[in-house]
Amino acid sequence: MVLSSNDKTNVKNIFAKIGGHAEEYGGETLERMFVTYPQTKTYFPHFDLAHGSAQVKAHGKKVASALVEAVNHIDDIAGALSKLSDLHAQKLRVDPVNFKLLGQCFLVVVAIHHPSLLTPEVHASLDKFLCAVGSVLTAKYR
Ligand code: HEM
Repeated sequence: MVLSSNDKTNVKNIFAKIGGHAEEYGGETLERMFVTYPQTKTYFPHFDLAHGSAQVKAHGKKVASALVEAVNHIDDIAGALSKLSDLHAQKLRVDPVNFKLLGQCFLVVVAIHHPSLLTPEVHASLDKFLCAVGSVLTAKYR
């Protein structure tokens, strides 16, 4: 997934606007994913997945921080998320299809909070970015 310089600018801009809300959006994204795509819950049997769960919120913060890290190193996402890539591919072995589902949910959360910012162009760039993160996190499966 190759991001153009325009995509990179769009992604950086939208994350700049999201600012300090990123962590909260991470939790909302996970909660939405678990409700909309219940099959994703199978990876979290050890979590309390009830509405408003502190564990889901805490995990959402971690996911959002990783996304922010990827934005901050948008020219080297593979390097920035190398350890996470090891974790997801070698230990967690999350089916790659689930990254699309999480990405969709994140897009919806951003759309809800920032309807006017998510123009079709920005939507396309953010989608590409989320796909790029997903391919990095599933790159080391073997
Ligand atoms: C753990 C990020 C997608 C399942 C983590 C952690 C981060 C993270 C930062 C914590 C690592 C640590 O504690 O050292 C991401 C990002 C994703 C993504 C940025 C995509 C944008 C997914 C998907 C699933 C998943 C799609 C499954 C549906 C898990 C599980 C853990 C984990 C089961 C371990 C949770 C625990 O026991 O604490 N992920 N993740 N991840 N992730 Fe992901």
